[in-house]
Amino acid sequence: MQTYPVNVKNITFAYDEDCLILKNLSIQIPKGKIVAIMGGSGSGKTTLLRQISGQYTPQSGIVEVFGQDIVALNEKKILELRKRIGVLFQFGALFTDMSVYDNVAFSLKEHTNLPESIIQKIVAMKLNAVGLFGTQEMMPQELSGGMARRVALARAMALDPELMLYDEPFTGLDPISLNVAAMLIKKLNTALGQTSILITHDIETSMKIVDYIYFMADGQIIAKGTPTEIHTTTNPAVRQFIQGKVDGPFHYEYPTKLDYNQYLGVKS
Ligand SMILES: Nc1ncnc2c1ncn2[C@@H]1O[C@H](COP(=O)(O)OP(=O)(O)O)[C@@H](O)[C@H]1O
Ligand SMILES: [Mg+2]
Repeated sequence: MQTYPVNVKNITFAYDEDCLILKNLSIQIPKGKIVAIMGGSGSGKTTLLRQISGQYTPQSGIVEVFGQDIVALNEKKILELRKRIGVLFQFGALFTDMSVYDNVAFSLKEHTNLPESIIQKIVAMKLNAVGLFGTQEMMPQELSGGMARRVALARAMALDPELMLYDEPFTGLDPISLNVAAMLIKKLNTALGQTSILITHDIETSMKIVDYIYFMADGQIIAKGTPTEIHTTTNPAVRQFIQGKVDGPFHYEYPTKLDYNQYLGVKS
């Protein structure tokens, strides 16, 4: 039977009362799969991930993670749940004053009582998995952007999480490093039997590694399907996004109520 480590049902969420960010939104993430969440900036993708990691809770609707209703959990239970979730955030920087070793070992020291000799072995294994065994003594400023992102990946994997949340992990990477990172995400998902949610703007890469795509606009899911289905959709908003067109349902202008001409005192 198919199980869903993440099951979000009809959630509504606002940071401020008067401005709804997520609007009656539902997603289901099947075990073992990599599911992408795509959509324009400000559509609410990061906000959705924050619901899944228990950082914020919805005003209405249900967020089930590993079959548990997040809203009903107390602080202690949420912390326990978080240990089973690996997170790689958009600007997930390394601790700059710590070596690669200390960065990757961080959560192992924080959350386990393992002896240093075992931690050393685990760190070596995690670094080896991302192709960076031997960099233990290096400092973050000695790493290239792609290497730093892979160390962050090793760090996020340290506690063998069952669920991985990636928020735009490819931002700022050159095409080769980007492919390396994408390939690693796929490889680790399979090898460790993980389930992954990947926020990305990179259509080509998603086509290669993800099983399913949810497409968001203005706090709602406006399209969903396999990468091929999304790629060939006739939905105008999705097509505009894929083709990077300026004109279409998405507007780049801020939706202000101020009238520009009136503001400048010119007649339109
Ligand atoms: N901590 C916050 N407090 C208030 N508003 C926020 C906060 N984080 C994001 N927002 C607002 O929520 C909306 C969605 O943001 P976000 O989830 O970051 O979008 P995305 O990740 O799709 O670019 C934006 O309008 C943003 O300004
Ligand atoms: Mg974001």
